[in-house]
Amino acid sequence: MTAAVIDGKAFAATLRARVGELATAFEAKAGRKAGLAVVLVGEDPASQVYVRSKGKSTVEAGMNSFEHKLPADTSEADLLATVEQLNADPAVDGILVQLPLPRHIDEQKVIAAINPDKDVDGFHVTNAGRLAVGQPGFVPCTPLGCSMLLKDKLGDLSGLDAVVIGRSNIVGKPMAQLLIAESCTVTVAHSRTKNLADVVRRADIVVAAVGRPEMVKGDWIKPGATVIDVGINRVPGAEEGKTRLVGDVDYASAATVASAITPVPGGVGPMTIAVLLRNALVAAYRNEGLDLAADAV
Ligand code: GUN
Repeated sequence: MTAAVIDGKAFAATLRARVGELATAFEAKAGRKAGLAVVLVGEDPASQVYVRSKGKSTVEAGMNSFEHKLPADTSEADLLATVEQLNADPAVDGILVQLPLPRHIDEQKVIAAINPDKDVDGFHVTNAGRLAVGQPGFVPCTPLGCSMLLKDKLGDLSGLDAVVIGRSNIVGKPMAQLLIAESCTVTVAHSRTKNLADVVRRADIVVAAVGRPEMVKGDWIKPGATVIDVGINRVPGAEEGKTRLVGDVDYASAATVASAITPVPGGVGPMTIAVLLRNALVAAYRNEGLDLAADAV
């Protein structure tokens, strides 16, 4: 068997087009564009690439992008003051502070300072709590994107056995909450899990988010399972000096057993920014008190 490839790039393009339509409708109703602010502290090259890409996608979706680039030696107090200013700015619907932050800044303190109703990353404890108890809030972009791909592929997830590998606040834990909300039976595995291969073998749905290149092997996968690979790992390529991207799943072997699998690149990766735009748009509608149907986007 060869698994169907779950085309995250195509799904993300459709989602972005839908967000664009709703952003146009928002502008007509609110008399202003939806706005997303991104704060970058320092010059980490990977973060600079992400932030540039987010800004470009935001404008393409018909929203305003506000970029705040602060030097690496910015004090925690100055960063908190920037967050406060964005909280108070009615043109800003969503705020994203790019992580990681320099070591002298307490990330949790900065996340806690963001107005939860502008927290489009879904990192604030208020949003983690809302997700846990099933109230409307913001869900971290990567797990929400994974959930969208799973529902698109499988339809109703209820009763399925799901294994999430990884327990981070950004992916593993919110992913588990989303799958519980879809009535899956959820196991969260991590670095201390005993007999990980056997645990994964029980799963109808495997979400791998551990950050270890090609750790999940094909013979860990139950025949017919759906595999979502969140990993983006850079490893040495075939040619001297070149690198290539691989996921947390050994794609070649897993694709012979699974019924569907996300590739790396082109699977979960492209979904993250598309879901961020979606969250920013939802924030704009909520902040203006405008109706947006639950299934609108
Ligand atoms: N750094 C890498 N990915 C992300 C993300 O999704 N949100 C934030 N704030 N920082 C990141």
